[in-house]
Amino acid sequence: MRIDIITVLPELLESPFQHSIIKRAQQKGLLEVNLISLRDFAVNKYGTIDDYQYGGGAGMVMMCEPIANCIDKLEGERDYDEVIYMTPDGSPMNQQMMNSLSLRSNFIILCGHYKGIDERIRELYITKEISIGDYVLSGGELAAAVFVDAIGRLLPGVLNDETSALSDSFQDNLLSPPVYTRPENFRGLNVPEILLSGHEAKIQEWRHTQALERTQCRRPDLLEEE
Ligand code: ADE
Repeated sequence: MRIDIITVLPELLESPFQHSIIKRAQQKGLLEVNLISLRDFAVNKYGTIDDYQYGGGAGMVMMCEPIANCIDKLEGERDYDEVIYMTPDGSPMNQQMMNSLSLRSNFIILCGHYKGIDERIRELYITKEISIGDYVLSGGELAAAVFVDAIGRLLPGVLNDETSALSDSFQDNLLSPPVYTRPENFRGLNVPEILLSGHEAKIQEWRHTQALERTQCRRPDLLEEE
């Protein structure tokens, strides 16, 4: 999978992909993440990429030309499955969305700033708009990092234990059951007996019940979906 991220702040995204699972995904050649500086496509030598909004009002708008020229260049080099714009008014990101996008190959992610991007770019270029939650970040970069992390770990061969992504919270619309490791007793609290029993079927049943109870209690909305 190849993910090209268009940003005015490439420095902000240098570190998040250089650790742990996403680093390993890149080292294994399963994921390629490229940071493209939008300033390289600025309309003048001062690096201008934004301008005042028509109709007045506070906040700058990211201009059409730099974004269009940048995407045109990328699309001239290869085909993309989606051109994604990270924005608080996009479709809420969830595990099902990430599962299905993880089957695709090439993405452009455009990170917004200021008041956002000129609406005409959304009309002409953007194929998918994604929000990571009902709050406003100061830019789309951290949302893009969340996207890359969530999708990267789903790519076959990235996680050591191939089944582990399948038992994550939200797969099956359920939160994960509680987990324990050594010691058996910590400050008077014991690991549930069933987990020490070695009885695989009963353990699976217990975990499922726990997942259901936890979901019912914390996120009943997930059980109502579909
Ligand atoms: N940019 C600013 N806020 C955002 C959000 N909540 N999700 C995605 N991109 C954003």
